[in-house]
Amino acid sequence: MNQVDFVVIGSGVAGLSLSLKLAEHGSVAIITKRQAIDSNTAWAQGGVACVTSVEDSFDLHIADTLAAGAGLCDREAVRTIVSEGPTAVRDLMRIGVQFDERILEDGQRELDLGREGGHSKRRVLHYHDTTGREIEQRLLEAVTKHPGIRILDNHMGVDLITTGKLGYTTEDRVIGVYVLNEASGNVQTIRSDRVILATGGCGKAYLYTTNPDIATGDGVAMAWRAGAAVANMEFIQFHPTCLFHPEQKSFLISEAVRGEGGKLVDASGREFMAKYHKLGALAPRDIVARAIDAEMKRTGAKCMYIDITHQPASFLIERFPNIYETCKGVGIDITMQPIPIVPAAHYQCGGVKTDLEGATTLRGLFAVGEVACTGLHGANRLASNSLLEALVLANRCSNALLKPKYASYQQVFELPEWRPGHAQDVDEVVVIYHNWDEIRRLMWDYVGIVRTKKRLLRASTRLRNLQREIQDFYWDFRVTTDLLELRSLCTVASLIVDSALARQESRGLHFTLDHPTTDDTRFLKDTILRRY
Ligand code: SIN
Repeated sequence: MNQVDFVVIGSGVAGLSLSLKLAEHGSVAIITKRQAIDSNTAWAQGGVACVTSVEDSFDLHIADTLAAGAGLCDREAVRTIVSEGPTAVRDLMRIGVQFDERILEDGQRELDLGREGGHSKRRVLHYHDTTGREIEQRLLEAVTKHPGIRILDNHMGVDLITTGKLGYTTEDRVIGVYVLNEASGNVQTIRSDRVILATGGCGKAYLYTTNPDIATGDGVAMAWRAGAAVANMEFIQFHPTCLFHPEQKSFLISEAVRGEGGKLVDASGREFMAKYHKLGALAPRDIVARAIDAEMKRTGAKCMYIDITHQPASFLIERFPNIYETCKGVGIDITMQPIPIVPAAHYQCGGVKTDLEGATTLRGLFAVGEVACTGLHGANRLASNSLLEALVLANRCSNALLKPKYASYQQVFELPEWRPGHAQDVDEVVVIYHNWDEIRRLMWDYVGIVRTKKRLLRASTRLRNLQREIQDFYWDFRVTTDLLELRSLCTVASLIVDSALARQESRGLHFTLDHPTTDDTRFLKDTILRRY
């Protein structure tokens, strides 16, 4: 296990589908922090946005994506990803992934397409309201059967090993990765000159999120430390409708509920979206999340509601079994009563800057899925475009990795073993948890849906102090998953704040009271940050 052709870090849809393809050409190690199923993908409810209907077209899907992206999408990325979607979806179906179908009057079957905010057509392929879980499970079945793939669960990437860090004067490139084995507490060295980040996003940087616990921004933080360019981190998408209930945190009420006619209402049942956007509850997410935030601030309410009770109970139970059961579990019958909701951090639209083959600015390092910034999402992601992007980029990256330009490097470098130094066990675990909570709360309070320069600067000062404390911990103590996740969170939080401070306008998901309008003359461009 000390040397593999390809190291894939992360086990969501991007990492698994890429690994399956790469394994036809070389040995693959998948590094995953907990169990392989513990990924953002497995929590995805909505589905895969993809043009499959005769009433739809690539041009319409492209236009919707560009409109949501508020001027910052890369048109080539949008065109490529949208038009290669159907092939990627067919690949999924080939390995057994199921999507819901409906039976037509003449007895024929066709895909049952869902609708979500910002889409002008029904185009979301879904499996009830557990699409991500269906995709994840089928991919995992295929991956675990493949003899060329080894899954290292309960392992976490610590740092990329680069020629630059080791003092070689050749072009800087990735030549391996240090990986923490959580069970033994040891850090192993894996030699590979093709490392692919598929680590997902960073929702856990915020107090309230729809993401699972693994979403701590590790890939962006690792790439940043290694010197790769990171783009557009100010664009954090807040999902408008996260269930508001003390016993059920981080549970998403899918946008598909609004697609099926769910109304956004306040405690007295009054609809409020019409005054914010002509598409009402189906406006793009940035607008809906800000509208809910504004209504909550205006009325002092702790939450708003989504009401889908006008639909027949049988339809809701069949279409949204997961939402129905989860809400029922905390005493909310969605067929009879409105569902309490609040916005919560959901998706990182920026990330490690890549081209359309997943290549980052650092040789040997690739990134696919939410961790990457290909230019598809611009300043605001269109709903259900993320699984599509992960699938298409996994295809494109696996094809690219077989090209001569990315062939394995012939020179053999000396790779030092990890040196734990004077490390002892962390005796002050409480400090880690305290710092973790502090980051998440300050991000929520100061770097949330509506921002100001004053609050961003306050967040920046505090994060720099925390970063120093965490660095001390890092050198003084034996590394643990908790400490590494805290380090990642602090790094991505700082990148979000620095990017937000640099963008002195409001656009898409970044809204600041200091500059409430969009300024195309100065800011019609990506925010690129690079450590060196
Ligand atoms: C949802 O089901 O609302 C989430 C879909 C997405 O984030 O793309």
